[in-house]
Amino acid sequence: MTEWETVKGVGFLKEIGLKSGQTVLDFGCGVGHYTVPAANVIGNKGIVYAVDKEQQAVNELKRKAKVDNLKNVKVMEASGQTKLSLESETVDVVLFYDVLHYLGKRNRKRLYQEASRVLKQDGLLSVYPKHTLEDDPIQEFSSLSVSDVKQEIENSSFVFEQKFCDLISHGDGLNQGCVWNFRKLAVEDAPALIL
Ligand SMILES: C[S@@+](CC[C@H](N)C(=O)[O-])C[C@H]1O[C@@H](n2cnc3c(N)ncnc32)[C@H](O)[C@@H]1O
Repeated sequence: MTEWETVKGVGFLKEIGLKSGQTVLDFGCGVGHYTVPAANVIGNKGIVYAVDKEQQAVNELKRKAKVDNLKNVKVMEASGQTKLSLESETVDVVLFYDVLHYLGKRNRKRLYQEASRVLKQDGLLSVYPKHTLEDDPIQEFSSLSVSDVKQEIENSSFVFEQKFCDLISHGDGLNQGCVWNFRKLAVEDAPALIL
């Protein structure tokens, strides 16, 4: 395991709110640059569901999890759709790290709704909105600012809580970036937001 996976990433994910024993969904996990430190934070009583549509990434992460003896990682290949094959209200933390720019507006909205469905009451949605206008814009974020992304998540029954900026994993290295934390809106508060 790398220093990011065992030390720096572990510290960062603890800072953003991950805790021992939690259930985490890492959607668009790639080769697991956040899955592995998340697995190290949550320990044997927790589980990380690591989901990606790329078979190569999924295979590489499965190999890594085996070599590193990470029994608390369940790697799942996705179809590329936004439907999550997890039960409702079973997840403590959803990570959307450096992945949302792959999805068009309608699919992002569906994905936020799915995140809200699988998250427990008061669950945490943590987003790394890389590749917006402020930060090497590409794909579906080529004309979106980070505040546009924040707004669309808030419009989907989440409340913005806090932003964490640090030297964090991107690609196979580290870069300066910010992760945005949102809390799932309590059911009784949701109608007010929809109006
Ligand atoms: C840039 S990588 C980020 C990987 C990891 N989250 C990280 O920050 O290191 C984005 C990943 O999201 C995956 N992805 C994109 N759209 C997806 C979808 N609809 N379902 C599942 N995975 C998706 C891609 O295959 C890719 O591996």
